[in-house]
Amino acid sequence: PQRVLTGITTSGTPHLGNYVGAVRPAITASRAPSTESFYFLADLHSLIKAQDPARTQRSTLEIAATWLAAGLDPSKVWFYRQSDVPETTELMWLLTCVAGKGILNRAHAYKAAVDKNRADGEDDDAAVTAGLFMYPVLMAADILIFNADRVPVGRDQIQHIEMARDFAQRFNHVYGRDWFNLPEAAIDDNVATLPGLDGRKMSKSYDNTIPLFVPQAQLKKLVFSILTDSKMPGEAKSTDGSALFQLYQAFATPDETAGFAAAFADGIGWGDAKQQLFDVVEREIAPMRERYEDLIARPGDIEDTLRDGGQRLRERYAIPLLRELRDAVGLRNLG
Ligand code: TYM
Repeated sequence: PQRVLTGITTSGTPHLGNYVGAVRPAITASRAPSTESFYFLADLHSLIKAQDPARTQRSTLEIAATWLAAGLDPSKVWFYRQSDVPETTELMWLLTCVAGKGILNRAHAYKAAVDKNRADGEDDDAAVTAGLFMYPVLMAADILIFNADRVPVGRDQIQHIEMARDFAQRFNHVYGRDWFNLPEAAIDDNVATLPGLDGRKMSKSYDNTIPLFVPQAQLKKLVFSILTDSKMPGEAKSTDGSALFQLYQAFATPDETAGFAAAFADGIGWGDAKQQLFDVVEREIAPMRERYEDLIARPGDIEDTLRDGGQRLRERYAIPLLRELRDAVGLRNLG
């Protein structure tokens, strides 16, 4: 079977970008015949950005409840917390020792930190942790430990998946066998990058997100705060580069989207357009919001589900793989 795998970093409240970029395509993919799916909470990754224990824990719970509310069935899909599979960090070291440092130098997140330091007149690596630098190797370990074929992600993660392929290839080459197959990013072209309230990529770091499960009234307020140009009703609007239009497209049917484009050309007022956007988002989110609220009220159940998933996954795949890899690289297996 095809193996599909993806994760979300537990560093905040899940937003519409995480939903359309990762959760929704992943759940759709998991329902395809002969697919084995692996969906997890990237809590080790969260330590890079959010060094706040209470926030990491709360975020883990919220993101787990989001997956479940969106329809993930833990009896059919591997659902787990990254840190519950400690073999991942061991594999990370094996990959670290074949990964080219030059490749990591080019990672977007690391480069952005260096560029910012330069702009501020600081040393290149001022306040940059080794964790940020090594981020792509940990992500490669997440993917390779279960030999995933497809990784549904937003466009911002493509580079990381290319790096995972590169590290896999090097490892295979050095250790003389196809230990790992080469994973591919699966990008939903309709929503490759969902814009946020200000038109830039929706991202916690830009503070421009629409959280998935805010109350209806707040969702409406947020939708009405999306930045538009100052064209009046009756003036033709451009769909090109319109955040409002892109958000609509991510939640509407193709027919609805065509109708919306026609309304733009006909000069729909921004207030009307925002109301229509709110309607399609609310239509999809409302049933999930109810399930989410039930789930989040029972954190003990979520905890049990995660722990059980991680435990079974270790026994089935992670422990046996690391045993083989330890042999392959010349380390001793205990017991
Ligand atoms: P993270 O937590 O930043 O984002 C989770 C997923 O949401 C997608 N996403 C978006 N998609 C479309 N439009 C947006 N505005 C938007 N914002 C976020 C991201 O592309 C991602 O798919 N490193 C990863 C987590 C991770 C992972 C992995 C993913 C760790 N290990 C292994 C896949 C496989 C991250 O920080 O994503």
